[in-house]
Amino acid sequence: MIIGCPKEIKNNENRVALTPGGTLELVRRGHTVYIQKTAGMGSGYSDEDYIDAGATMLDTIEEVYAKSETIVKVKEPIEVEYPLVREGQLLFTYFHFASSVPLTKAMIASKAICLAYETVEAPNGSLPLLVPMSEVAGRMAIQQGARYLEKPAGGIGILLGGVPGVKPAKVVVLGGGVVGLQAAKMAAGLGAQVILMDISLDRLRYLADILPANVRTVYSSEYNIRKELSTVDLIVGAVLIPGAKAPHLITRQMLSEMRDGSVVVDVAVDQGGCIETCVPTTHENPTYVVDGVVHYCVANMPGAVPYTSTIALTNATFPYLLQLAEKGWERATAENAGLAKGLNVVRGEIVYAPVAEALGEA
Ligand SMILES: NC(=O)c1ccc[n+]([C@@H]2O[C@H](COP(=O)([O-])OP(=O)(O)OC[C@H]3O[C@@H](n4cnc5c(N)ncnc54)[C@H](O)[C@@H]3O)[C@@H](O)[C@H]2O)c1
Repeated sequence: MIIGCPKEIKNNENRVALTPGGTLELVRRGHTVYIQKTAGMGSGYSDEDYIDAGATMLDTIEEVYAKSETIVKVKEPIEVEYPLVREGQLLFTYFHFASSVPLTKAMIASKAICLAYETVEAPNGSLPLLVPMSEVAGRMAIQQGARYLEKPAGGIGILLGGVPGVKPAKVVVLGGGVVGLQAAKMAAGLGAQVILMDISLDRLRYLADILPANVRTVYSSEYNIRKELSTVDLIVGAVLIPGAKAPHLITRQMLSEMRDGSVVVDVAVDQGGCIETCVPTTHENPTYVVDGVVHYCVANMPGAVPYTSTIALTNATFPYLLQLAEKGWERATAENAGLAKGLNVVRGEIVYAPVAEALGEA
């Protein structure tokens, strides 16, 4: 198969969909790999690294799309890429169709095959190509939270882990899924006093078993959240109700119970946020203050650490890419029901019901 990997052109996107390691594996199996020049630079891979692995470097994005049967990417194509997508071409990338009608219409019109990372399923129903980015965001939430708790960054001026003789900061993590577990683990590792809340008792049982003693698990309810607000230093928002907007667990009115200089990092901002006052921010301008509380609400947190995120993402995507390359998309999806769940738009037709519903509503 001929596989092309263009350079990501979405603002501030430094990840790349194929590493030199992945390239080597594909080339060894007889596939042709085209990489757009400098595509790997933001993630620490030079053109020479790809050439050594057996790739052919192409100067322009137009050439990559024109010469490849399969395009592997990180983010959805943006407007300037729409005309480059060819009929019958397989695109394997994040699409998030439900949030963009123009993108959906453009991909329908292209008659390409759009296999979306975000809807590929593992046999247990989990979303294996979303997990790695949640892991990155969960860990990063604490790194960012710790930073904004510092006085010069607008925070209250507390060190997350304290020091001997001084008590540590108090961190509340709302939601104990992938993001919440990683956040709790990082905060606990730094020595903070952590409260991890979820509504799933089974999940709380599991979390209580595996996390260290400085993490307490608490059932998530308005009453229990309110009890912590006047003393909390950092809140991480990490809830998800699949397919729905995040519930506002901290309302505007509740926010006023928090101290000036305390920090909220709402990772769930991409689903509307679980703190009512959260609106999406960018890496250039990540924070703002409401009622004295510093808000960090960056919608694409993993984009800030491309060296880590690229490897985390491609570790998960590559086995699927290999199946697609070896078998072609039709056989690969026929033989792997979880991979077939990734098919969203096929030759001009929406084949993934939630996307069709979202487009219908729009
Ligand atoms: N901002 C970013 O860059 C970024 C990156 C990755 C993921 N995310 C987002 O982070 C969010 C969490 O992702 P995840 O992978 O951890 O999801 P997940 O499904 O693994 O976990 C969500 C958890 O929230 C819990 N929950 C549901 N309602 C709750 C409530 N009322 N109170 C407390 N807990 C509740 C669920 O029981 C579940 O354990 C998602 O919205 C995801 O899109 C954002």
